[in-house]
Amino acid sequence: MTNETKQKVREFYDEIGWQQEDDGLYQNARYEDLRPVSREYIHKTRLRVMNGLIPTGRFLLDAGSGPVQYEEYKVYSQGYQKRVCLDISIQALREARERIGDHGLFVVGDLANLPFKQESFDGAVSMHAIHHLALTEHPRAYAEIHRVLATGRTAAIVNGWHEPLLSRMAEPLIGLMRKLSGRSVKKKKEWLNEEDPAGTFVRKMTPEWLKREIGSQMKIEIKPWRSVSTRILRWFVRPFGGRVFLKFVFWLEGVFPKFFAENGQYPLIVIKK
Ligand SMILES: C[S@@+](CC[C@H](N)C(=O)[O-])C[C@H]1O[C@@H](n2cnc3c(N)ncnc32)[C@H](O)[C@@H]1O
Repeated sequence: MTNETKQKVREFYDEIGWQQEDDGLYQNARYEDLRPVSREYIHKTRLRVMNGLIPTGRFLLDAGSGPVQYEEYKVYSQGYQKRVCLDISIQALREARERIGDHGLFVVGDLANLPFKQESFDGAVSMHAIHHLALTEHPRAYAEIHRVLATGRTAAIVNGWHEPLLSRMAEPLIGLMRKLSGRSVKKKKEWLNEEDPAGTFVRKMTPEWLKREIGSQMKIEIKPWRSVSTRILRWFVRPFGGRVFLKFVFWLEGVFPKFFAENGQYPLIVIKK
């Protein structure tokens, strides 16, 4: 990926993604399902990051931190002395400083070229950020997180899969529902990109790619984070019965972790060093 593309991603987040809109939410929050019916499921999935993190330590790296926008995100570094937020967008870090103050250290930088010495961190998280790099740079981003992580410690990474099975299965049904409601059926490229900020660069990977390219370089474990995409939530989860349905989904994710980790929308990738 060229520096020009990274520059565009940075400009997008500086000027649009991390600007607050009239309702007080960041523009970026529109890619999340914020309806009350989905709240409990989303809350519990965000806390699942703790399944991949040792809860206490000195420095926690948050690579591509954004503004640490949701309350649950603060829990990740609760047991750490400092949270080091690294982001390519200065606006993200200004907002993060507002939200976590002295608990944070704020570094403008590129997560594929971390400006830290090896073994500097007792833990690391990176949520929805590596996908902004070209696929050729993903191994470098993982290698960088692994390099700066102390031996015996873990990192928790969340990124969406490319065309996971559950989304492919849901799509014909969504197409039918769109038709019945008088809307045109979306083209594949349109639904694939629906959860990604328009105007930024996004590349997603498959489980096979991850195991081959990253699993061969370091010890990783793929766990479920959130198998239901925002698009599926919005189409299928209705106020009546939706909460119970999502409780069931969350339970299923726990009972069949391997299936949901690899076939749902978002895995939790745990690096063990
Ligand atoms: C979708 S947002 C996610 C933010 C936050 N982790 C969250 O889950 O709310 C992606 C973030 O990654 C940052 N980012 C994108 N490319 C980056 C890079 N090469 N190096 C560092 N940060 C990057 C963006 O500026 C943005 O803040």
